[in-house]
Amino acid sequence: MLKVGWIGCGTHAAEMLLPQLVRLPVRLSALADVDAARLATVADRYGVARRFTDGGELLAAGGLDAVGMAVGPHRHAVFAAEALRRGLAVFVEKPPAPTAREAEEIAALATKAGRPCVVGFMKRYSTANRIAGNLLRAPAFGPAVSLLGEYMTAPGYFAGSYESFLLHHAVHAMDLVPWLLGAPVTGVRARKCELAPGKLLLHVGFEVESGALATVVMGTHQSRGTPMEWWQVMGDHRRVEMRNVHEVRYFRDPAFKSSDPQATLDDLRDTLVWEPNLTAAANEDHKGYCALLAAFVRAATDEASDAPTIADGARAMRVLEAMARSMASGETERP
Ligand SMILES: NC(=O)c1ccc[n+]([C@@H]2O[C@H](COP(=O)([O-])OP(=O)(O)OC[C@H]3O[C@@H](n4cnc5c(N)ncnc54)[C@H](O)[C@@H]3O)[C@@H](O)[C@H]2O)c1
Repeated sequence: MLKVGWIGCGTHAAEMLLPQLVRLPVRLSALADVDAARLATVADRYGVARRFTDGGELLAAGGLDAVGMAVGPHRHAVFAAEALRRGLAVFVEKPPAPTAREAEEIAALATKAGRPCVVGFMKRYSTANRIAGNLLRAPAFGPAVSLLGEYMTAPGYFAGSYESFLLHHAVHAMDLVPWLLGAPVTGVRARKCELAPGKLLLHVGFEVESGALATVVMGTHQSRGTPMEWWQVMGDHRRVEMRNVHEVRYFRDPAFKSSDPQATLDDLRDTLVWEPNLTAAANEDHKGYCALLAAFVRAATDEASDAPTIADGARAMRVLEAMARSMASGETERP
C-alpha cells in the first residue's frame, strides 16, 4: 500500500480531499498542520499516530512514498520542491505556487527526480466535464471552434485583494479552457469592470493554438448560493453544454419537428442529456476529487495516469499571469 503523508488539515483537505483519498489503496501514514486543534481533529478521525506541527518536519521524518498538500500557494512551492528532492510522489492543490516561475522550478525538479507531481485541477474529472471531454475528443465531434464559459464567485470570499481570486479561483479556468479545446492558450485579453471595491467583472478572450475562439466571463459579484459554472463548446452543427457540473446537453443536427406529424426523437440527431440521480445511495464523485486522487495514486505507483502534471500547472500559471497583465494593459498578452 502506498504510504501517504498529508500537509495541511484545513477546510479543503478535511472536507473534500482526505475523505476521498482514504477510499483509495493508500495508507494515510502521517499528517501535519501548524494548527494543533485541526491536526488533532483530522488525525483522530483517521487514527493517524505520526503527527507534525509543520510540513517540513513531516518531510524530514521520512518513511513515506508520497505526499499530498493543501496549504496555499507559497507553502505549496516550498513543500512540493522539498518532497521531490526527497524522491516522493507529490499531489499539490492548485495553485501549485504563487508564480509561474516557481511552478516551472517545481516542474524542473519533478523531471530531474523522475517523480510525478500532480496538480489539483479536479475540474477535468467532474462527471459532466469528463463526459464533455470524451464527446469533444471523439472523431464525430470534429474540430472545436469556440468555447463560452461563465465562472463566477462572490465578493466576500475575496475581500481586499483580487490576488486570491486569481490564484484560488480563476486558475481553474486557465487549465480547463485549453483542456476542453485540446490546444494551448497563445493569447489572453481581459476587459474589466469594477462594480464596487471587491466586486470585479472580467470578460476574457482566449486565443488558442488551434485557432478556436474562447470567451469566459469571470467575476466576484455573484452569490455562492447560486450555480456558478457554465461551459459550452461548439463544433460544426454540434455543441456540448455543461451546467454547474451536474448537467450535460449534447446538441446535434435534428430535423424540425413542428410540421411533421410523425415527429419523434432520433438517437443519432436529437439532443442527448445527462443528469445524475442525486438520490441514489451511491458514492458518486460529481466534483471529481476522488477521480483526481485516484489518478494521482496511479501516477505515484508508476501506472498509466492522465493526472494533470506540474507542467500543466506551470502552463496554467503562465496564462493566469498573462491575464493579470492584460487586466492592467487592456491589450492581448502572451503566456
Ligand atoms: N480544488 C478545489 O476545489 C479547492 C477548493 C478549496 C481550496 N483549494 C486549495 O487548497 C488550498 C488550501 O485551501 P483551504 O481552503 O483548505 O485553506 P485553509 O487555510 O483552510 O487550510 C490550510 C491549512 O494549512 C495549514 N498550514 C499552514 N502552514 C502550514 C505549515 N507550514 N505546515 C503544515 N500546515 C500548515 C493551516 O493551518 C491550515 O489548516 C489552497 O491552495 C486552495 O486554493 C482547492
